[in-house]
Amino acid sequence: MASINDNYLKLKAGYLFPEIARRVNAFAEANPDAKIIRLGIGDVTEPLPEACRTAMIKAVEEMGDRNTFKGYGPEQGYAWLREKIAAQDFQARGAEIDASEIFISDGSKCDTGNILEIFGHDNTIAVTDPVYPVYVDTNVMAGNTGKANDKGEFEGLVYLPISADNNFTAEIPSQKVDLIYLCFPNNPTGATATKEYLKKWVDYAKANNSIIFFDAAYEAYITDASIPHSIYEIPGAREVAIEFRSFSKNAGFTGTRCALTVVPKTLTAKAADGSDVELWKLWNRRQSTKFNGVSYIVQRGAEAVYSPEGQAQIKELVSFYLENAKIIREKLTAAGLSVYGGVNAPYVWVKTPNGLSSWEFFDKLLQTVNVVGTPGSGFGAAGEGYFRISAFNSRENVEEAMKRITEKFKV
Ligand code: MLT
Repeated sequence: MASINDNYLKLKAGYLFPEIARRVNAFAEANPDAKIIRLGIGDVTEPLPEACRTAMIKAVEEMGDRNTFKGYGPEQGYAWLREKIAAQDFQARGAEIDASEIFISDGSKCDTGNILEIFGHDNTIAVTDPVYPVYVDTNVMAGNTGKANDKGEFEGLVYLPISADNNFTAEIPSQKVDLIYLCFPNNPTGATATKEYLKKWVDYAKANNSIIFFDAAYEAYITDASIPHSIYEIPGAREVAIEFRSFSKNAGFTGTRCALTVVPKTLTAKAADGSDVELWKLWNRRQSTKFNGVSYIVQRGAEAVYSPEGQAQIKELVSFYLENAKIIREKLTAAGLSVYGGVNAPYVWVKTPNGLSSWEFFDKLLQTVNVVGTPGSGFGAAGEGYFRISAFNSRENVEEAMKRITEKFKV
């Protein structure tokens, strides 16, 4: 009989968001008249920018003409898209990233998981706690951890606690770790990192020959001019960091699918024979073997983000969600709750009141005001006692949810 990858059995029962959906669906079935407002999963609700739609419609027409039809595209993504990304997202901010170092993909979730394939299984891996659960679960699946303890912490991972005490930015570890996941603006806490803080990580990584996985999926939400959008704005980061970016949260592509990963050609790690190997070569080899690229139509849609109209439209989209976040922060504060984040990020991180656990607060909010959020404990043991509210929804729903919480929810 065939055998399975036993590492999957170490995982907690379900991925966080499907588990929330399961509970919400059960509640909805039992209470068919309840008008549930979902501020749980960070999924966008507003339509695609017009510039992206127009570009994609044109691309569909091109696919209908034998003279402009496209078959397989380059596995790394079309050069016209990568060049615009390199120029506008990186070089314009003083980050020396070349178009050849950019890989277009169908999502940052996939890439942050898949990147582990080019690394060995003997690395010491650090994650913050709380953390985006994909980083942990993909390491479990890859066999990079032992079993979970009662708190859900996996043996073999180094957990770096983040809380209000350290502004939700982890202390630089005293021990040596090989791979470090950093996410700024942070999911789930909405925290941001200063240049000085990121420099400490870059210096640490250089001193310890570590690699930083920098998830910048929410960089478009940075409004404060002093906050870096890319780790490559920090001198030396080209030698130590891989960066993940996405069109999901800036241009509403969660259902359209397009993202990018930057693997600088200056980045190396050790082979078993002691030689230094270029990570770009390995990732390129992986992608060209296992991936056929993102569709031409979608890449044309992503390219339109870099046009003047596209830039104005995504700015408007991001401002819309940031205004939602502001409303959430203000109303929850007025309701007597302690809130964090939501200023340069679409997530508001809330301390649960009266010592309620994260799931108790989730149930109470669902049952009393029919509002769904995400229990902080789903992001890690140190997320217990916190709750995440996403600003991704219509204005009407956000206002209605906050009205219900301020008027009917007794803290
Ligand atoms: C979240 O709610 O954390 C998001 O769904 C993350 C993601 O985009 O995968």
